[in-house]
Amino acid sequence: MSRAGKPGKARATWLGIGLLGLFLLPTSLSLEVSVGKATTIYAVNGTAILLPCTFSSCFGFENLRFWWSYNSSDTYRILIDGIVKNEKSDPKVRLKDDDRITLEGTTKEKMNNISIQLSNVEFSDTGKYSCYVRNPKEKDLQHHATIFLQVVDKLEEVDNTVTLIILSVVGGVIGLLICILLLKKLITFILKKTREKKKECLVSSSGNDNTENGLPGSKAEEKPPTKV
Ligand SMILES: *[C@@H]1O[C@H](CO)[C@@H](O)[C@H](O)[C@H]1NC(C)=O
Ligand SMILES: *[C@@H]1O[C@H](CO)[C@@H](O)[C@H](O)[C@H]1NC(C)=O
Ligand SMILES: *[C@@H]1O[C@H](CO)[C@@H](O)[C@H](O)[C@H]1NC(C)=O
Repeated sequence: MSRAGKPGKARATWLGIGLLGLFLLPTSLSLEVSVGKATTIYAVNGTAILLPCTFSSCFGFENLRFWWSYNSSDTYRILIDGIVKNEKSDPKVRLKDDDRITLEGTTKEKMNNISIQLSNVEFSDTGKYSCYVRNPKEKDLQHHATIFLQVVDKLEEVDNTVTLIILSVVGGVIGLLICILLLKKLITFILKKTREKKKECLVSSSGNDNTENGLPGSKAEEKPPTKV
């Protein structure tokens, strides 16, 4: 039984590792492109904004092509196009659509950062920005990630009043509940005390009864010997 159990366990372990590998393979080994967690970024007109983009690939890369595109309701254009020779070199820009765009990232030291900066942002810059990467080392595997840029005339400060109101209401309700609970505790405590007092009275009175009953009882005990 134990002999048969061991190979079974080992097989299960290997199967587990295999399954884990299958899960990890598509997520961490092949080419990936990311623009970060935010799906929308806000920029004030006239200022500069960084459009983030990083990529990763466990297979490494060679002559990796990257480009950024802009897509709004009426236009689609390539903003910047470039190539990265290998992991030790910085990206080379081949084509740039707009002087306001600069490549900010670096691909040295495994940074794999191809973020761009858009300076002097205009309201018409609002739209979808996609970062594309194509890796010849992975059979020209291509991936992209998109971020939405919203140009505003001023960044709205997060309005805390509503949060404050909600918090104070919630706090008030909780406080009230605690007060009610305390009051209930107090009332039950008082009720218990008064009941206990009443019981004490009953106990003491019944105790008196017992002693009174006991007295005749003792008298009754005294009686049998007289009978015998
Ligand atoms: C941004 O736009 C607003 C409204 O059009 C304007 O008043 C403001 O001067 C602009 N800011 C810059 C830095 O261009
Ligand atoms: C641009 O965006 C529109 C609307 O989301 C979409 O239908 C279209 O396919 C996009 N164009 C490109 C080239 O991705
Ligand atoms: C990419 O490079 C830009 C510009 O140097 C920097 O601000 C940004 O934090 C970098 N992103 C990451 C994920 O390292």
